[in-house]
Amino acid sequence: MKEPDKAFVLWLTGLSGSGKTTLADRIYEFISKKGLSVEKLDGDILRGFFPATGFTRQQRDEHIKRVGFMASMLEKHGVIVVASFISPYRNARRFVRDVCKNFIEVYVHAPLDVCEKRDVKGLYTRARAGQIKNFTGLDDPYEEPEKPDIIVNTDEQSVDESASVIIDFIGKYL
Ligand SMILES: Nc1ncnc2c1ncn2[C@@H]1O[C@H](COP(=O)(O)OP(=O)(O)OP(=O)(O)O)[C@@H](O)[C@H]1O
Ligand SMILES: [Mg+2]
Repeated sequence: MKEPDKAFVLWLTGLSGSGKTTLADRIYEFISKKGLSVEKLDGDILRGFFPATGFTRQQRDEHIKRVGFMASMLEKHGVIVVASFISPYRNARRFVRDVCKNFIEVYVHAPLDVCEKRDVKGLYTRARAGQIKNFTGLDDPYEEPEKPDIIVNTDEQSVDESASVIIDFIGKYL
């Protein structure tokens, strides 16, 4: 496994169903095939290991700080990190930007109605039925990135097209 010249943390943020995990998997595979050290941190997987983490503002903030700090430690040791978290609050994302050396924010954007129509995990249906509280985009805010390094509009692009936009951007680091 080669160390990249310059490690970085590629942080994908966006609504549930916007395409973060789909794209993170593609990017991870692309970097991995180059033989570079890369780790993937995904919200669902990480939450599986911290099952007590809920979805109040405080719990979300703690979760993002915890995984953001972890990402920075990997980066410090030369590992590229591909992180996919809804991470709806600007302050928490800023915290991660500040602890990392090279933080690349990717806004994985699709309008709420498109994400809701996709309803990949059936969560929107459950939230609309009142079975899930504090659901981002419905009864909890998503604070859009003000100056993301990359934006992909996944309602207009294919998965391949969105992945290419990101890969083109990170090319200079690889
Ligand atoms: N350009 C695109 N980029 C990414 N995904 C896309 C794109 N176009 C369509 N999709 C589809 O959108 C869905 C996105 O689901 P995905 O699980 O990746 O979302 P997510 O952002 O990880 O959601 P969650 O926050 O709930 O984990 C997939 O079914 C994917 O095939
Ligand atoms: Mg996901």
